[in-house]
Amino acid sequence: MTRAAVLSGLGGWLPPRVVTNDDLPAELDTSDHWIRSRTGIARRHFADPGSATSDLAVEAGARALASSGTPHADAVILATTTPDRICPATAPEVATRLGLADAAAFDLNAACTGFMCGLACAAGMIATGVTDRVLVIGAETYSSILDPLDRGTAPIFGDGAGAVVLRAGDPDEPGAIGHIDLGSDGSGAELVGVNGGGSRQRLSDGPEREGERYLTMAGREVFKHAVMRMTASCQTVLERAGRDVDDVDRLVAHQANIRIVHQLADQLRIDRGRVVTNIDRVGNTAAASVPLALLHGVADGAVRPGQQTLLTAFGAGFTWGSTLLTWPELVLRD
Ligand code: COA
Repeated sequence: MTRAAVLSGLGGWLPPRVVTNDDLPAELDTSDHWIRSRTGIARRHFADPGSATSDLAVEAGARALASSGTPHADAVILATTTPDRICPATAPEVATRLGLADAAAFDLNAACTGFMCGLACAAGMIATGVTDRVLVIGAETYSSILDPLDRGTAPIFGDGAGAVVLRAGDPDEPGAIGHIDLGSDGSGAELVGVNGGGSRQRLSDGPEREGERYLTMAGREVFKHAVMRMTASCQTVLERAGRDVDDVDRLVAHQANIRIVHQLADQLRIDRGRVVTNIDRVGNTAAASVPLALLHGVADGAVRPGQQTLLTAFGAGFTWGSTLLTWPELVLRD
């Protein structure tokens, strides 16, 4: 029988420091009203200096493993744009701190789509027998790359981590990862990203280039691409799965902006009542966004076993990805 990857654990973690819109620096010249009405964000969590992405990833990973009912996994995929350092990857340290001796472990950078790419990698590794249980973590510390004085990004992003465990199972089981759509368009590379610190623009070029270590974003342009690409990707997945939008019980999209999520739902003709959102409390947590939205959706009772759940994300690159699954019975662990 064909092996499928089946979602069997879910967990997440947010650093304790909460920053409300009113807590943002006055120099940003923004307001709680503007941020809420234009993005849907009321607050976000920021890790304190000294906390790294691995710290968040370990917390989320431990909870996902506990939720899966066993502390074991033979691979860790860490989706992140904000690793602890450029080299080595952060995932091996996370695996070791989780007690996963000898586990395969690597980082994956597809920005806000990273978690969806991680699911695809894990599903492929399980289907081909490379591994039996994979911990997929999306973890970010965007506060480390935000220009605190850029009102186009500073109010938008937040820190956090979400994780799932995928185990080998049956394609017909609830939680089985079936059809996945992934894509990219590198012509959008300049519209959102961090220019400095890589091989193209070296940070050692001078202190005047200090700002290049920050994330920049052409928000309005990125917005349009996000709606367009996630809509098309969701339609592709539904078509491949032989499903109609009316079959979708819950839409869990990357939480970039509530207006993006609502426009996506409208384009797909999915009632906004079927949209799961937590952007008000976490902001855009990039690779952690989809698993954290799932976690909060399950905890709130919005995502329930048996529901056809459509996951989709879009991020810098540009990159995008979607999948559809029947939501499984899961036990959450704190
Ligand atoms: N507070 C107050 N005013 C702000 C502001 C803020 N935080 N940010 C922008 N503005 C102003 C702009 O200066 C502009 O003023 P002007 O008309 O006088 O020039 C006006 O608001 C409109 O700016 P615009 O950039 O068009 O706003 P927007 O409605 O597109 O919202 C984002 C900006 C960033 C919230 C929005 O574009 C967005 O969410 N983009 C997509 C993000 C995304 O998809 N990310 C996923 C990949 S990481």
